[in-house]
Amino acid sequence: MNKMKPTSAAVKRAKKAPPPSEPAQPLAPPPTALSIRAVRSDDMKSVIELDALVTGIKKRDYWNSLYLRHEKAAANGQHFLVATAGTKVVGFVIGEVRDWEFGSPPCGWVLAIDVRPEARLLGAATQLLQALCAGFRRARVSKVRTLLARENTLILSFFRSQGMMISPFIPLEMDLA
Ligand SMILES: CC(C)(COP(=O)(O)OP(=O)(O)OC[C@H]1O[C@@H](n2cnc3c(N)ncnc32)[C@H](O)[C@@H]1OP(=O)(O)O)[C@@H](O)C(=O)NCCC(=O)NCCS
Repeated sequence: MNKMKPTSAAVKRAKKAPPPSEPAQPLAPPPTALSIRAVRSDDMKSVIELDALVTGIKKRDYWNSLYLRHEKAAANGQHFLVATAGTKVVGFVIGEVRDWEFGSPPCGWVLAIDVRPEARLLGAATQLLQALCAGFRRARVSKVRTLLARENTLILSFFRSQGMMISPFIPLEMDLA
């Protein structure tokens, strides 16, 4: 058997072992931190686009009038908040305190909540709802309600995860032909 002795150059190369491997690089950059703040007029383009993405209907006039109403009504318990990641609006929530509607003591209503599909399951809606409820508490209401489409199991799962339960109210409707 030809047992070859390693050359001195090979020994030197072997001694010069490669540096210990670099720390593993994360596969994806960490998600940008979310912030929650009151809506501004320059957010409305993103809000309209996000609503159209979720509902399939672009309602520019509705949203612009809602924003104007909100500006005037903010002091009276209307809340319109956005979630941002960096400079991008990734979600919004709209809520309102209503006094004695439907015979009930003042309570907070969640009127709409949407998060961009690519920003979901990262806690954005949870943070939006928590911020909204904090506003409701500051307005001294101790109950929050919402209304949702029976077949919208996604939004139902979300509200259930937040601790919301079936309320003692029954929604009724009829056609006005
Ligand atoms: C519902 C919605 C607002 C949730 O936003 P989100 O930022 O992804 O929610 P969060 O990350 O805060 O999720 C909180 C909890 O909600 C529940 N949830 C959210 N998405 C869910 C899903 N796809 N399936 C099941 N449960 C879900 C989970 O319990 C979740 O907690 P977990 O992540 O610890 O399991 C978002 O999916 C959305 O915008 N959907 C369309 C909304 C809509 O139909 N709006 C029109 C009526 S207003």
